[in-house]
Amino acid sequence: MNAASTAVPVIAIDGPSASGKGTIAQRVAEALGFHYLDSGALYRLVALAALRSGVALEDETAVSDLAKQLDVRFCVGRILYNNHIVTDDIRSEICGMGASRVALLPGVRQALLLRQQAFRQAPGLVAEGRDMGTVVFPDAMLKVFLTASAEVRAERRYKQLKEKGIDANMRALLRELHERDQRDSARSVAPLQMAVDARELDSTGIGIDEIVRQVLDWYRQNAARVAGSER
Ligand code: C5P
Repeated sequence: MNAASTAVPVIAIDGPSASGKGTIAQRVAEALGFHYLDSGALYRLVALAALRSGVALEDETAVSDLAKQLDVRFCVGRILYNNHIVTDDIRSEICGMGASRVALLPGVRQALLLRQQAFRQAPGLVAEGRDMGTVVFPDAMLKVFLTASAEVRAERRYKQLKEKGIDANMRALLRELHERDQRDSARSVAPLQMAVDARELDSTGIGIDEIVRQVLDWYRQNAARVAGSER
């Protein structure tokens, strides 16, 4: 047996904002009975913590300290910060933009690294974000890079916000998505980029069921290949 085979399997799903990673990752985790990590929620929580405590989002030392001390619990479908439910609060565009700013800081990324890796528990983990396959779980059993056109992504975000009763404007959403993608792709530490060994999946015009099926097929193929090579 080699090191990779003894490790708990990970499926890493990365991609730009609103590409459908969350829905797909949760459905795949459910199908396999795996744990699920929404790494973006951690960056959003750090932004929320900074905004609530009046810390400037560029203050690397102070924001990194907040990230280290973050008192967060993920309980079935709910996120608790300092024992308060913040599941919806962190979904706001302010927290999204704030997250992409604190995510630029190497100290924050370092503080969140071990926290993310601790989610790797048997029988397996589906982790979604921007650097799951490149930095956090480079030995993932399967890496998927999920994309969709900017228009489709803005529409999805628009619908999500409307469903929550939050007022939204398509043109502003599109502009914010571009801005966030630009910042996520251009940063020097762990930029949004496809891992060399990732499989790209463009979800534009494809139904959720089909995407989930494709990811599960790829995972089973890889798992069978690893098991075969160990025999
Ligand atoms: O995925 P989500 O939109 O919730 O992520 C919010 C922000 O957090 C992203 O725009 C990105 O800047 C940052 N992020 C990151 N690395 C991750 C997950 C999210 O830099 N693994």
